[in-house]
Amino acid sequence: VSSVRTFHEDVRSALGGRHVVTDQDLTASHCIDWTRRWHGSTPAVLRPGSTDEVAEVVSAARRHHVALVPQGGNTGLVGGATPLAGEVVVDLRRLDRLDPVDAAARQVTVGAGVPLATVHAHVAPASLAFAVDLGAREQATVGGMVATNAGGIHVVRNGPMRVQLVGVEAVLGTGQVLVANMAGLEKDNTGYDLPALLCGSEGTLGIITAARLRLVARPEMVAAALVGFDSVDDAVWAASTLRGEPAVVAIELMTADGLAVVADFLQQSVPLLPVPAAVLLVEAAGRGDVTAALGDAVAALPGALDAAVSDDAAGRERLWRWREGHHEAAAALGVVHKADVTLPTGALARFVMAAPALVERVAPGSTTLVYGHAGDGNVHVNVVGPKPDDDSVVDAVLAAVLERGGSVSAEHGIGVAKRAWLVRQRGEVAVTAMRGIKSALDPDNICNPGVLLP
Ligand code: FAD
Ligand code: MLT
Ligand code: ZN
Repeated sequence: VSSVRTFHEDVRSALGGRHVVTDQDLTASHCIDWTRRWHGSTPAVLRPGSTDEVAEVVSAARRHHVALVPQGGNTGLVGGATPLAGEVVVDLRRLDRLDPVDAAARQVTVGAGVPLATVHAHVAPASLAFAVDLGAREQATVGGMVATNAGGIHVVRNGPMRVQLVGVEAVLGTGQVLVANMAGLEKDNTGYDLPALLCGSEGTLGIITAARLRLVARPEMVAAALVGFDSVDDAVWAASTLRGEPAVVAIELMTADGLAVVADFLQQSVPLLPVPAAVLLVEAAGRGDVTAALGDAVAALPGALDAAVSDDAAGRERLWRWREGHHEAAAALGVVHKADVTLPTGALARFVMAAPALVERVAPGSTTLVYGHAGDGNVHVNVVGPKPDDDSVVDAVLAAVLERGGSVSAEHGIGVAKRAWLVRQRGEVAVTAMRGIKSALDPDNICNPGVLLP
């Protein structure tokens, strides 16, 4: 206790009392995750406003042996930002630097605390776009997205966060400030790729304070189509075909069971006839008549039954509501157990069809929604029914994924939820290498000690 008190004195003098929050009414929302599966407690939430202040926090934590949990928008889905062992939370949202867009380099430097939607809005006037997009865009921060190597709806065309990350600034667990390629060189073949290493490190190697991001051309036209199929097989086959269409930037899969839950939630009927067994939401973007290109691509898909197409913002949003409504509709039913997995292309359709029966065997009477980024083999099995601390359903789903040669985490990370699966997924040699990296960059194990490594 006395060590924590001394730590508090140090951080108060570094950040100012206002940014060391100890009132439990104010810290409470930082102690529970978005799914409500993980609850913790914290003696304080620290709100540093600069990289130097983050470095002072980490150095004080080293001196006093205090564990830290970095937190951005707190939208992570694997419990990685929750102080489960009473750690001090470091809220990075005051790191809100937004540098001018470097249009010539097609890059921008932003602070770790900037929300994704702000990045999108900031680069749009330069006729550029940031390629990553996901449902939590209003809250999820760049730092959290780098830390989790976030994926989202455009991975099928542009790749995940790691592909967009040109450079990174971070305070390592040693307290040192690492500046890695923040000048934005497109080619720099001088040793280990440290931005790529920090991407996906889930706060275990240090605290990301800023990122240099790659940008893409802002599309002149965007069109979306909701396409119905009478089997999951046909929809998954169509997803593979659509990957070959240069204008297609998103291919999302939904099934009849999930759509029925969303229809109840939205109090609307699915706008396709007959009511399909599976639906793809396909988005195309670019120059020229992408609506026509999308219409032609959809018309040529074997097994497509009906389609609703829109190229204006309001109409596209109405179509996307069916896909993005899955989170809210599931959460409205109770605490959601999330298995975020990838399957090899050839195993995806069978897995999607088998998942509900597998869940029913383990937790009879549950509601199961299977949906996701089918274009890159990533589906989310969301289950409502089991008690919040009951891991049996997610464990059964992950075991089935490993048997089929897939991955137990496609895009959400390991967090605390899947630590027990890391060795089975990656093998002892890889996990030992990860431990070596962790102890070199965070020698006192103060950065998210409960996360990622088993
Ligand atoms: P947090 O939740 O605050 O933290 C996540 C992890 O990163 C934690 O381990 C935390 O310790 C660490 N961290 C946070 N900030 C930093 C930092 N500055 N330095 C070091 N470590 C840090 N994810 C996808 O990949 N694809 C999706 O399509 C997607 N859709 C979503 C839709 C909804 C509705 C929701 C709620 C979540 C979704 N997510 C998705 C998950 C989530 O939005 C991402 O994981 C996102 O990257 C988390 O960002 P955050 O700022 O909220 O991070
Ligand atoms: C999504 O793609 O909707 C999120 O990553 C997953 C989820 O809510 O399970
Ligand atoms: Zn997702």
